[in-house]
Amino acid sequence: MVMARSTSPLVPAVSRFPALQAALAGQYDFERELGSGGMGVVLLARDVRLDRPVAIKVLPTTADEDPMLYARFLREARMAGQLSHPNIVPVFRADELGGHAFFAMPYVEGDDLGALIDRHRTQSASVLAPLAPLAPLDVARWMREVAWALAYAHARGVVHRDIKPENIVIERESRRALVTDFGLARGIGRRAEVDATTSRFTAEGEIVGSVRYMSPEQIVDDGVDGRSDLYSLGAVAFHALTGRAPFEGAIPAILTAHLERPAPSVTDVAPAIPPHIGAVVDRCLAKRANDRYETGEALADALEKAIRLTTTQRVPRRDGDVRIRFRAARRGLARLERPASSAASRLHGAR
Ligand SMILES: Nc1ncnc2c1ncn2[C@@H]1O[C@H](COP(=O)(O)OP(=O)(O)OP(=O)(O)O)[C@@H](O)[C@H]1O
Ligand SMILES: [Mg+2]
Repeated sequence: MVMARSTSPLVPAVSRFPALQAALAGQYDFERELGSGGMGVVLLARDVRLDRPVAIKVLPTTADEDPMLYARFLREARMAGQLSHPNIVPVFRADELGGHAFFAMPYVEGDDLGALIDRHRTQSASVLAPLAPLAPLDVARWMREVAWALAYAHARGVVHRDIKPENIVIERESRRALVTDFGLARGIGRRAEVDATTSRFTAEGEIVGSVRYMSPEQIVDDGVDGRSDLYSLGAVAFHALTGRAPFEGAIPAILTAHLERPAPSVTDVAPAIPPHIGAVVDRCLAKRANDRYETGEALADALEKAIRLTTTQRVPRRDGDVRIRFRAARRGLARLERPASSAASRLHGAR
């Protein structure tokens, strides 16, 4: 996976966590750092016995430095280890060794959605700006896959809480969306308070990257349910479709806007977006959780319908003829359609 932003390939991973590498000798050989976020450092390693690459997320904070955070990291990694779904990166080991808590997962070859959004915007800006950053049907398909993953996790009482482009990986070979960091602690009291004088978060830890996708109820109170993730997914899709998040600016302004300002409609910002897809995203961004889709499953169904309507929409041509407007996109439909299986088996099926 190419994760450009926070990657530091020149820092040998082994020198960063020598005690952990020593404790894991014969099991995993650390190769390089893939990146780091608000919570941990992700290392590329080789599973020595199976001779395959793995990704290991390490909490740099030791138990002595922050026992609560340390315990929560392990607890939530173990909880994530219970999840088995085709659109969730599985956690196959959560442990503590050499003074560090860590968990292991398969290394996913691909790009996270944040990198795809950035790259596409850079390319399109140089050719024919403003273009929608990513193909709407691709975004709708990925959003549907994430909605399946959310439905599965929510049914088991796990809310993700940090759905953002960097936590959605698009596997290069299969073009499948995989969600990472399920239910993972973000190292903060999740109440996002803004210090009026410094304009910075008073909560300890770092949540800057997530603010653009944070639901109103998550900003004021951590008592969220799955519909908070649906809001965040809507904000991610909005960004992928239009090239900007629903609310941009300084952090306090973004937070206030999530709480008070109606989100702009996707098709107002990017009129070329197919209206059926735009309408689904708009509904995810409703301020009140009751006004969104009730479940991830309902969202996935709505997306399925929007994709179908988009690919069959017939638009009159000026010469009176009729053409299929999204023919190119339609060619991708074969990829979109999954083998005939029930919605339930998609939601609950293991890899
Ligand atoms: N299983 C994996 N395979 C390959 N790369 C991964 C895997 N898991 C995470 N990464 C990548 O490693 C990098 C660091 O991930 P990390 O989760 O630490 O940061 P983040 O997602 O930006 O922030 P946060 O801590 O809020 O989740 C990201 O670019 C992420 O996509
Ligand atoms: Mg992450």
